[in-house]
Amino acid sequence: MHLIKTLSFLLCSVLLLAAATFHDLRVGFERPARIAFPETNPYSPQKAALGKMLFFDTRLSGAQNLSCATCHNPSFGWETPASRAVGAMNQALERHTPTIENLAESEHFFWDGRVGSLELQVVGPITHPLKMNSSMRQVVRRLEAISGYRRYFEIAFPEDGLTQDNIVAALATYLRTLRSGWSPFDDWIEGDEEAISTSAKRGFEVFTGVGRCSSCHQSWAFTDHGFHTIGLASDDSGRGLLDPEMQYHFKTPGLRNIALRAPYMHDGSLTTLRDVIAHYRSGGVPHPDRQNDIAPLDGLSDRNVNDLLAFLETLTAYDPHVSAPSLPVD
Ligand code: HEC
Ligand code: HEC
Repeated sequence: MHLIKTLSFLLCSVLLLAAATFHDLRVGFERPARIAFPETNPYSPQKAALGKMLFFDTRLSGAQNLSCATCHNPSFGWETPASRAVGAMNQALERHTPTIENLAESEHFFWDGRVGSLELQVVGPITHPLKMNSSMRQVVRRLEAISGYRRYFEIAFPEDGLTQDNIVAALATYLRTLRSGWSPFDDWIEGDEEAISTSAKRGFEVFTGVGRCSSCHQSWAFTDHGFHTIGLASDDSGRGLLDPEMQYHFKTPGLRNIALRAPYMHDGSLTTLRDVIAHYRSGGVPHPDRQNDIAPLDGLSDRNVNDLLAFLETLTAYDPHVSAPSLPVD
């Protein structure tokens, strides 16, 4: 009798422990309630609405034919559905268009993290000859000629209205508001057991366990905000351009809405999520002069791969649609 009691006590403890461990896996993946806006550029709905107009307005480009949304297309998780986008000069850019969702908490922008704030970041694409090929002076002049914009700038920035700095402030504010939408994964994290399939739940265990994915893709947005080299064949030295110790390192991208964001990686070299997992399984190719931050995943079974895919699909928002703003015409 005593033995049976001890055994059942042990069994209960093991089950409780297993439940607790599994529950713990979910901790840290809850979405934050607020977006972090800097004191130097605080949020206002007027600024964000104006930033959205600017983001979708082709008049920010030299030839008035490209907007930020041309490349950062909301239908594709704010990316370009091709390995490299083509900009003003009809030339493919050097790197694949990254998503721009969930960047409010980032401190490094671009694949190599070469820029330290969204305010500094947004001028780059407007003036880059291969991207929008304009100048800030030209943009200010063009917008000044549109009475609707003059009025919106006066509302959003009562002190000084339409200026170069305020164009930047409005765009950066809009970018900070771009949060990936609520997804089945979030419902599951909140405790709805029915929200995702059993396969996806197993996939999350693989993601945080034998797959070792969460050592880099951490927290609710699935990034450690760090830089790593994962053995892609591209000879782009990435963050190595800024720091010789970091050859071939690229920023860990977040994974929200990842199923919408093909193709993948800084070079757009992997076409499907199955290709991405096959890459991690193989451990990638070694660079001649440095070790990869990943090793082959020999323990990963075919079932693990399918489960991982099912899990990644649960990160797609229920409603990823974005309405286009109506732009002032004169
Ligand atoms: C012609 C295509 C194209 C256009 C137009 C474009 N971008 Fe980009 N964007 C890119 C590419 C490619 C990168 C990555 C470049 C790199 O990492 O070297 C990028 C990177 C970014 C990033 C950094 C994302 C991160 O994770 O660090 C932000 C933010 C961004 N763009 C915002 C904008 C804004 C705002 C506009 C309009 C003013 C714009 N982009 C216009 C292609 C484009
Ligand atoms: C050592 C850190 C690290 C680990 C471990 C890791 N990743 Fe990544 N992941 C990255 C980095 C860095 C990139 C971008 C690499 C590049 O473009 O050069 C990336 C890119 C991706 C992308 C493409 C994102 C995009 O925007 O194109 C997906 C999908 C992805 N990882 C999923 C996974 C999965 C699934 C696992 C586990 C099997 C995993 N990662 C393990 C660091 C890591």
